Amino acid sequence: MNRAAGLINYYLYQWFLITLILTSCTESTNDIKYRIGFSQCTDADQWRRVMHEEMQREIAFHPEVELIIKNAANSSNKQIQQIKDLLEEDIDLLIVSPNEAAPITPIIEEIYRRGIPVIVIDRKISSSSYTSYVGANNYEIGSLAGKYAAELLNGKGKIIEITGLKGSTPAIERHNGFTQSLKNYPNIEIVKEVEGKWEIDTVKQVFPAILDTIQQANLVFAHNDIMGLGAYEISKQIGRENDIKFIGIDGLAGSNAGLQFVNDGILDATFTYPTGGELSINIALDLLNGKTVSKENILQTTLINNGNIKVMKLQSDKIVEQQKDILRQTALIESQKELYQNQKILMYILLASLSCSLGFGAYILYSLKEKQQTFKKLKAKNKEITKQRNQIEKMALKAEEATQAKLKFFTNISHEFRTPLTLIMAAVEELKELSQHYTSQQNKDLNLINRNAARLLRLINQLMDFRKIENSKMQVYATKHNIVKFIKEIMVEFENLANKNKIDFHLTTNTNQLNIWFDSGMLDKVLFNLLSNAFKFTRDGDFIRIGIEERILENKVLLVVEDSGSGMTPEHVKFAFDRFYKGNNYETFGTGLGLALSKEMIKLHHGNLDVSSEMGKGTRFEIELQLGKNHFSTEQLSNSEDKDFKHTEIKFFLENLNLKSQKEKTIDNSQSKNISILIIEDNDELRNILSEKLKKEYEVFEASNGKTGLDKAYDKIPDLIISDVMLPKMDGLKITKTLKEDIKTSHIPIILLTSKNSVEQKIEGIQTGADAYIIKPFNFKFLEESIKNILKNRDALKKRYSHELPLKESSTNGNSLDKKFINSFKIKVEENISNASYSANEIADELGLSRVQLYRKIKALLGVGINDYIKSIRLKKAKILMLESDLTISEIAYEVGFSSPAYFSTAFKTKYKLSPSDFLKKEHSSKS
Ligand code: FRU
Repeated sequence: MNRAAGLINYYLYQWFLITLILTSCTESTNDIKYRIGFSQCTDADQWRRVMHEEMQREIAFHPEVELIIKNAANSSNKQIQQIKDLLEEDIDLLIVSPNEAAPITPIIEEIYRRGIPVIVIDRKISSSSYTSYVGANNYEIGSLAGKYAAELLNGKGKIIEITGLKGSTPAIERHNGFTQSLKNYPNIEIVKEVEGKWEIDTVKQVFPAILDTIQQANLVFAHNDIMGLGAYEISKQIGRENDIKFIGIDGLAGSNAGLQFVNDGILDATFTYPTGGELSINIALDLLNGKTVSKENILQTTLINNGNIKVMKLQSDKIVEQQKDILRQTALIESQKELYQNQKILMYILLASLSCSLGFGAYILYSLKEKQQTFKKLKAKNKEITKQRNQIEKMALKAEEATQAKLKFFTNISHEFRTPLTLIMAAVEELKELSQHYTSQQNKDLNLINRNAARLLRLINQLMDFRKIENSKMQVYATKHNIVKFIKEIMVEFENLANKNKIDFHLTTNTNQLNIWFDSGMLDKVLFNLLSNAFKFTRDGDFIRIGIEERILENKVLLVVEDSGSGMTPEHVKFAFDRFYKGNNYETFGTGLGLALSKEMIKLHHGNLDVSSEMGKGTRFEIELQLGKNHFSTEQLSNSEDKDFKHTEIKFFLENLNLKSQKEKTIDNSQSKNISILIIEDNDELRNILSEKLKKEYEVFEASNGKTGLDKAYDKIPDLIISDVMLPKMDGLKITKTLKEDIKTSHIPIILLTSKNSVEQKIEGIQTGADAYIIKPFNFKFLEESIKNILKNRDALKKRYSHELPLKESSTNGNSLDKKFINSFKIKVEENISNASYSANEIADELGLSRVQLYRKIKALLGVGINDYIKSIRLKKAKILMLESDLTISEIAYEVGFSSPAYFSTAFKTKYKLSPSDFLKKEHSSKS
């Protein structure tokens, strides 16, 4: 169920509950089961009021019954109307005390016929169409009154009879009974019959008119006590009250009623005439409850006169008191009932509030539960989603891992390709040396192999570069260059190709010097790609132009590579930098990867590379680079100026892609074979090829793993080591570090050879102390040049070491360990300069080296043998002594450790081309 529906249900429930409570609160009106209509002829006298009181008292015990009383005020017509009204009110039973019998009878009969029970009380109707009658026997009362009157009159006298309303049955019956009983007394005469209509006022109106009759009357019989009082009072007015006996009917208790009148001597007697109020209600209830009742219920009458008035009065007073008490009690009960009712209502309200609160509480609980359930469901859903997401993530991770594995495999394979390709190219290079012995076809084939191997290498290089870019591993390492010089150098490499193809290849620039920051390796590749592309699409007579434009205002430089060649289709232009695009017209020096790669490399420079081309008109590439270096981070900047970039890659590819004329031989065979090189390389073929090539000029040692390599380095103390970085048992970096930190080997130059070409690895290699870092695939010539360069630098260092005086802190370049070593070596010799027998053996022992190691180290660092070096120090010292001391030449000879002055003279003459005495003479003459 949703929340809104729950709320509506809850309020409907509350409404129902409150209605129920309010219904029970008003049960006094709504729980009425029966309605009794009472048509009363009049309520203007005490007797009727007593009747009502009796009825009310009785009905009070029956809250399920309602009593509706209508007063006809002595009017029969009015009474008929009121009975009709009661019928309209849907009464279940009618009690009627008819004003007059005849006019009322028809409507009563009608009601009776309809099946509504009718109780006739006191006065009767003219038919028997009623259910029950309650009242005293009026005929009998009249009869008793006649008898009693006769007794009072002792059988003789005159009587005035005051009757009730003539049409009402008590008046008729009482008169009949009275007259009938008096028939037994012939001396008693009813002298006057007056209609008092049951009212004192009527009596008082008609009585004065019969004063004559009153004068002679002995007794007045009034049909009720109140009319008797009226007759008494009128009689009194004429002083006859004590002469006349007064008899009345009703005998009511109370201050202004029959008992009191008897007691006061106003009436001589009265007959009780019960109202029947209480009985009529009981009969009505019986009828309503389906009980059978007697049709005629005759009430008893009693004579009250002097004889019993006291007792009767007491009793009636008592009864009145009790009735008053009952009334009080009833009133109390009523107020209690009201209080109870109010409390009940209050309780119901409280109950209702409690129920509301409980309901509300229950609703809150329910809502909470529902919320909890919803929360639970959401939680479960969330869990499910998380699970699914985790699964997706896992799958994505697996997919990524698979992709990475594929790429890694691909990269590794590419790495693997490099060495064999290098070998192929090295072999081809070797074969080309003998090209004059081959047929032209063989030479062509050789070129084909060489060109395609180079193409394959270039492809692999580009793929690996791309992989690096994708892994964000390619980093810019920008140095400051004169871009004009840089471009001119590249153009030189392409000149032959331009000449061969008769292409006007030129540079347009307004400056000769424009320094900008860029990664030379990357820009070299980019320009090679663009120029390759341009040369691909140009023919005889076309032009290729490189433009350099400085745009100071925009803080940038624009490099343009433009050609007037065949141009590209719009589609080709659109996808020119798309690495996966394969156009139809697709044949370049490399692949379409070159342009895509170039674009990425320029992006790494925070620059931009764009192309525009038109078929038949040519193509224009624009490289935008920023001036200054603020766009690079500190890690991307080199602090040294790269003045001497070699454009190796361009040279290599141009040469090997057969785009350039045969390169001149630069092999310098001047080096003698007394230089030894140790090659540490696990690839047998590469090691063999290197060995074969180097053997022509050097003594070569070989090692196929790091461990034997290190051992051989210690054993042979070679003049140079070429080592691969990735080696079994011990890698090249470790070998380098070990050797460079050891005094015995610290002087040996090391060239590291690897296919890994990231900047970090280069830096790592150099940090371990490697003297050069050459990346596979390499041009063998380049390796040879590097070896020669290093050896040349060593020679320069040797000269410096050998010329420097001992004990002086050297400021020259070179390994600090070597410098320390040379210093300690020189100190040792200095300290023992007079000791003629001091030799290499003693020094080796003192320095912790073997004689051979010492010999090789000294030879490598100083370029001379130990003994020759010691001798040269002795001679240098001798020279100083000759100039600065008074010692004789012989004394000096012994002083500097020569065994004889003759040997000293010979050695001196050999070194300085002068005998010691000639040297002294020359010095003296120059001073003077
Ligand atoms: C009261 C009364 C009584 C009398 C009765 C007869 O209205 O006049 O005094 O006994 O009616 O119906």
